[in-house]
Amino acid sequence: MATYTHGHHESVLRSHRWRTAENSAAYVLPRLTSGVSVLDVGCGPGTITADLATLVTPGRVTALEVTEEALDLARAEIARRGLTNVDFTVGDVHALDFPDESFDVVHAHQVLQHVGDPVRALREMRRVCRPGGIVAARDSDYAAFTWYPGDPDLNEWLAVYREVARRNGAEPDAGRRLLAWAREAGFTDVTPGASVWCFATPEDRDWWTGMWAERIVDSAIAAQAVTYGLATRDDLTRIAAAWRRLGAAEDGWFTVLHGEIICRP
Ligand SMILES: C[S@@+](CC[C@H](N)C(=O)[O-])C[C@H]1O[C@@H](n2cnc3c(N)ncnc32)[C@H](O)[C@@H]1O
Repeated sequence: MATYTHGHHESVLRSHRWRTAENSAAYVLPRLTSGVSVLDVGCGPGTITADLATLVTPGRVTALEVTEEALDLARAEIARRGLTNVDFTVGDVHALDFPDESFDVVHAHQVLQHVGDPVRALREMRRVCRPGGIVAARDSDYAAFTWYPGDPDLNEWLAVYREVARRNGAEPDAGRRLLAWAREAGFTDVTPGASVWCFATPEDRDWWTGMWAERIVDSAIAAQAVTYGLATRDDLTRIAAAWRRLGAAEDGWFTVLHGEIICRP
């Protein structure tokens, strides 16, 4: 299994907890009708999972994570929301411990960019998907992120992040590859698409840039960048200051491009 680049530091979780089905899985919403069964692969802290569970009630959602510790974060969110139609399981998307044709919707948000073999992962997701169901995946594409005003220290952030991810055996520019991976995994019926997150209002910009200013010095990425010899602690502090500059820029703009696929087995 590839090393999970981001880890589960509070600054990372804050970013994941902002996610909803509406801002992160809008392309799947038409398929999430009452009674549908869902597997949410790499559910993270579970805010999207909780929305999926609300939408498919009384259908059941299975939340899957790589460790009990990671799964506990989702358990807490589901309990906080008072939902009773979510099951939890530890597992690895490369080798899912479910019989063939177990779920109507097999969903993965920002997971394939972190796994060692996304084609094998998609084959497994396909195997556990029922005929007539869908496999849905959405991943960002780091090389396609765009921002204004330009800042060489943010260019360095991007270069460091992408190299850390690759050293961890993962593909940071996953969005543009989803269609290719799905076809290689054997899907012949794939609807590809794209959507963005845009952080350009003072509140959104402040939240996104503040979160990355912390992440680049405090999360697992920072430790890995230093260990891999890609940046010093001083470099990361300088990059964090660039994030804060972008946050303070009145015309500051940041967009995150995502690729999306809906695949029918
Ligand atoms: C960027 S987070 C996304 C979390 C959640 N889907 C969301 O969007 O809020 C990626 C998650 O994938 C999980 N993950 C990494 N490798 C995995 C694997 N091989 N199988 C299943 N999950 C994996 C990580 O533990 C992490 O929680």
